[in-house]
Amino acid sequence: MKVSVLGLGKLGLPLLATCASKGFLSYGYDINKEILSKLGKSITDSKETSLATLIKKFKKKIITSESITDAVLNSDITFVVTPTPSKKNGSFSNKYIFDVVKGIAHGLKVKSKYHLVVIVSTIMPNSTNQARKILEKNSGKMCGKDFGLCYNPEFIALGSVVENLLNPDFVLIGQSDTKSGDILEQFYLKFCNNRPKIMRMNFVNAELTKISLNTYVTTKISYANMLTEICEKLPEGDVDVITNALGLDSRIGTKYLKGGPSFGGPCFPRDNLAFIYLARKLKSNFQLPLATHKTNLQQTDRLVKIIMQYSANSKIGILGLSYKPFTDVIEESFGLILAKKLLQQKKIVNVHDPVALENVEKVFKDQVKYFNNIKECIEESEVVVISCNWPQYKAVDKFFKSKAKKILIDPWRMINPKSLSSSVIYVPVGQNINYQ
Ligand SMILES: NC(=O)c1ccc[n+]([C@@H]2O[C@H](COP(=O)([O-])OP(=O)(O)OC[C@H]3O[C@@H](n4cnc5c(N)ncnc54)[C@H](O)[C@@H]3O)[C@@H](O)[C@H]2O)c1
Repeated sequence: MKVSVLGLGKLGLPLLATCASKGFLSYGYDINKEILSKLGKSITDSKETSLATLIKKFKKKIITSESITDAVLNSDITFVVTPTPSKKNGSFSNKYIFDVVKGIAHGLKVKSKYHLVVIVSTIMPNSTNQARKILEKNSGKMCGKDFGLCYNPEFIALGSVVENLLNPDFVLIGQSDTKSGDILEQFYLKFCNNRPKIMRMNFVNAELTKISLNTYVTTKISYANMLTEICEKLPEGDVDVITNALGLDSRIGTKYLKGGPSFGGPCFPRDNLAFIYLARKLKSNFQLPLATHKTNLQQTDRLVKIIMQYSANSKIGILGLSYKPFTDVIEESFGLILAKKLLQQKKIVNVHDPVALENVEKVFKDQVKYFNNIKECIEESEVVVISCNWPQYKAVDKFFKSKAKKILIDPWRMINPKSLSSSVIYVPVGQNINYQ
């Protein structure tokens, strides 16, 4: 089986490299020629775990395609991983998907063999059916006979995309017909390191499953975040004690049940809004995702307020600007939003992040001071906020040993307060415990 991947961004490039690592001859195409000529050269393993290593190791199996037709003619399966930007109303735009689908149709027109088209991007329900019509109209071929079509979203977290692709909890396949689903299932049997359950269904159910999953996970995060505020108001309250116990119930589980800052990134916030749009359009109840969304916004406002209380005329150090550890993506991250709000209040802001500073610099230019060294960032700041739970921040207590007065605000409760000097005021969000 030979594969092609159209759209080599945060998800497409790891998919291409992982296919190559599993022995598939893998053709990659992107409209951005710079990506093709560099083929991941600007990516390092510290930004996306093991991606650079895979590209280097399996480069003989990775071939760049000159055009979409070229990619279709050379492969048996084509994965579409182009962007689906959010519209103002919250739904996803299919513009880039349909541009590519038209290109695929031209390839199908001149191809004599059967071909499988797989849409991976996150799309609104009913989009794959529209893609099927475009493919049939522009190729003159029939779906289910001359070609197959599947909707097959991936459930990955940036930073660990390769690992997540290879070891999914389950594989979701929306299929046009049995043959297309069979081919994709065979692909996954070879591709995955584990033996995941494969859930096969029609397009619309697969499309709804994808956005439902993220909506459910964000509801869980907002639930834990709701508990943080209650714990702060109850003497001796501690959100971690509660969520650790709750997570032991097998109906709940521990994953994503951790009180912390608001969720961000390129998927969670927008998938929620898309779900709200869909439910509203169908005149269904959308109160639950709306409450998740609102709780998330409130969590940002609440934490910013707490930080402001402690930061009159102070220099503020923000540790961690990426939306989660092990990625340089800063889209809608708490650290980014916090820095913006502090700058609006004319505060002096110092920032540290293990890999995301280059992206942060594109946003703030010379408005903030950048630190590659955690110790120096802390030394230059009177108030320090751990905004992203990068593991290295667990050890920052060693930089709070001097007599200098400092305030450490810890929304993740990563620090053992006993290890701090007595001149440090420790503010653990989600706890009402007097550590002084
Ligand atoms: N990033 C994630 O964590 C993640 C997770 C799950 C699903 N998704 C979904 O996957 C899709 C892609 O996301 P991403 O984060 O990889 O996006 P991205 O913006 O990082 O990359 C998209 C790539 O597609 C290319 N492209 C655009 N138009 C094209 C065209 N006509 N032909 C060829 N290439 C074209 C762009 O140049 C870019 O390199 C989105 O629908 C997203 O919601 C993303």
